[in-house]
Amino acid sequence: MKRNILIIGACGQIGTELTFTLREKYGSDVVVASDIREGSENLMESGPFEPLDATDYDALEELVAYYEIDEVYLMAAMLSATAEKFPERAWNLNMNSLFNVLNLAKEKKIKKIFWPSSIAVFGPNTPKQNTAQNTIMEPSTVYGISKQSGERWCDYYHHKFGVDVRSVRYPGLISWKTMPGGGTTDYAVEIYHKALSDNKYTCFLKEDTELPMMYMNDAIRATLQIMESDAKKVKVRSSYNLAAMSFTPAEISQSIKNHISNFKVSYKPDSRQAIADSWPSNIDDSKAQKDWGWKAEYDLERTTQEMLKNLEP
Ligand SMILES: NC(=O)c1ccc[n+]([C@@H]2O[C@H](COP(=O)([O-])OP(=O)(O)OC[C@H]3O[C@@H](n4cnc5c(N)ncnc54)[C@H](O)[C@@H]3O)[C@@H](O)[C@H]2O)c1
Repeated sequence: MKRNILIIGACGQIGTELTFTLREKYGSDVVVASDIREGSENLMESGPFEPLDATDYDALEELVAYYEIDEVYLMAAMLSATAEKFPERAWNLNMNSLFNVLNLAKEKKIKKIFWPSSIAVFGPNTPKQNTAQNTIMEPSTVYGISKQSGERWCDYYHHKFGVDVRSVRYPGLISWKTMPGGGTTDYAVEIYHKALSDNKYTCFLKEDTELPMMYMNDAIRATLQIMESDAKKVKVRSSYNLAAMSFTPAEISQSIKNHISNFKVSYKPDSRQAIADSWPSNIDDSKAQKDWGWKAEYDLERTTQEMLKNLEP
């Protein structure tokens, strides 16, 4: 079935790879990339690109009409660590961009939305082990508050206005094509770059801080899978827990040392430690497995092999 797709925030860590994958699958000309800034050369050359501020409803509406867009993937957001520095800007971007897209669907100008949530919806009072789909949330970060509110609005627009919005709570994402954009799990990408360039890395989290993580290929596959699932199977319209692996800085360091024996890691926790401490250690994603057949493929060892192979000069 022919469909025109718009990706908002296409130049970021996830948007870049999502754009490549969707273009490969559906054809370059039907996947429009947009962002407030330009992306990598590869991305800019791979198909149509439009500058867009996601908080500008009129500009968004015009773009959607011009390209006869059916589906929107909204990836623009301010991430956890940056949002703590600019709380109001983060709230405005994260919420207004979502309202704009939800309202377009409410007005029947688009048919389907993907909007990512995050493990940041959980907070210090959430049980840390095997964190359930439905549990205490109470996020303590600006980013987490915006994601939890976003989830409630997605659920509301679905039930009240029939909007087909789909969402997963991504864990920290590890990838090599684009650098991460200001999150608390960024260390798990930086560490591979530094292992190869300097043989040493100073980690901004403590060595025993366990967090849920995922390799980008799994994240993109989950995104396409939930978007392609029969609407009846997508029973949760706030956001699904999604999991692949969990590890500490000490464990990822060891997995790199197994390939680069003289790699050295030191620890100098900064303000991001408090954010990490408020999040779960590992996630129960059985609901996503049951409803639409989710299953992760990359563990830590496979991720390390892929990262080192692709980043090696
Ligand atoms: N990367 C992760 O580990 C992770 C984990 C959980 C959830 N998420 C969520 O996934 C989504 C994408 O994350 P990412 O890691 O790719 O983020 P990123 O920071 O790498 O990319 C975000 C993109 O949005 C763009 N943007 C910012 N303001 C904009 C605006 N006003 N209009 C249009 N574009 C704008 C930025 O230029 C950037 O290219 C976000 O909603 C994020 O909260 C990411």
